[in-house]
Amino acid sequence: MTSTPLIDFHDGHSIPQLGFGIWQIPQDETAAAVESALNTGYRLIDGAFIYGNEAGLCEGLKRSDVAREEVFVTTKVWNDAHGRDRARASVDRSLKSIGVDQLDLVLIHWPVPSQDLYVETWEALIEMRNEGLMRSIGVSNFNADHLARLIKETGEAPVLNQIEINPQLQQPELRAVCDAHRIVVQAWTPLGSGKSFDAEPIKAAAARTGKSPAQVILRWHLQLDHAVITRSVNPRRQAENLDVFDFTLTGDEMKAIAGLDVGLRNGPDPSVFKLM
Ligand SMILES: NC(=O)c1ccc[n+]([C@@H]2O[C@H](COP(=O)([O-])OP(=O)(O)OC[C@H]3O[C@@H](n4cnc5c(N)ncnc54)[C@H](OP(=O)(O)O)[C@@H]3O)[C@@H](O)[C@H]2O)c1
Repeated sequence: MTSTPLIDFHDGHSIPQLGFGIWQIPQDETAAAVESALNTGYRLIDGAFIYGNEAGLCEGLKRSDVAREEVFVTTKVWNDAHGRDRARASVDRSLKSIGVDQLDLVLIHWPVPSQDLYVETWEALIEMRNEGLMRSIGVSNFNADHLARLIKETGEAPVLNQIEINPQLQQPELRAVCDAHRIVVQAWTPLGSGKSFDAEPIKAAAARTGKSPAQVILRWHLQLDHAVITRSVNPRRQAENLDVFDFTLTGDEMKAIAGLDVGLRNGPDPSVFKLM
């Protein structure tokens, strides 16, 4: 079984570079998906309160052969739980639903600038981290201005920013800002809904390496030092997506894939998104 490399956080902890996400997996299928992912070799499960499947995550952790301390568990505070008291209630609820004493990472899911509570929410996460409810704290979907404000007003940078990145949406400026603050960039929907599977540079690299387009794209992320979370309910694809550590893309292949960036989002724009 391939072991996934770790990426260090600036707080002294570390995260598996490649993980398994459970967005859109129905509650009654989540335990089986998590169990299978862990038994396939994943050691990071990325959940969120809003995914509605934390009980399934709990069951999957129990059913797998892997010890709790070997699994990195992430959850997120949803948009309607911003503010000191609600954020705390959200983390308490997730701890209970997932059935763990401590989470490895808790993220603010979206900044929701229109309600202007993300700094207070961040202060609440700092307090809870200091109390030991989670080991590390980070954010998701934060743009450069949101990160700058957190750092200016609290003096503490997130360890990680989970953002949408795929070959058609590469976000080089935001990645550079994260690098400058030692914030790990973690890519969500890393396959970009398969929209670049047929692009020439992906097809050419797949043909040269004997790998699938999905594997080429995941490898591209890894070579850019991103942390990545992928998802499949299909055990064969779970294994395929983990089998990306035995080949390397050339500099020319990396450059050709860089040329596919057209700034196309699959998800919402974080500067305006406010779904509650
Ligand atoms: N922070 C945020 O706002 C945010 C937003 C979105 C997602 N996320 C997180 O990021 C995780 C990953 O994003 P995602 O769920 O969109 O994952 P993804 O891996 O980019 O896409 C998953 C989809 O691709 C298919 N797929 C997976 N592996 C494949 C392969 N090798 N070849 C062809 N198709 C493949 C899956 O279908 P099958 O299941 O049928 O294989 C599924 O429909 C989420 O699960 C969630 O944890 C976070």
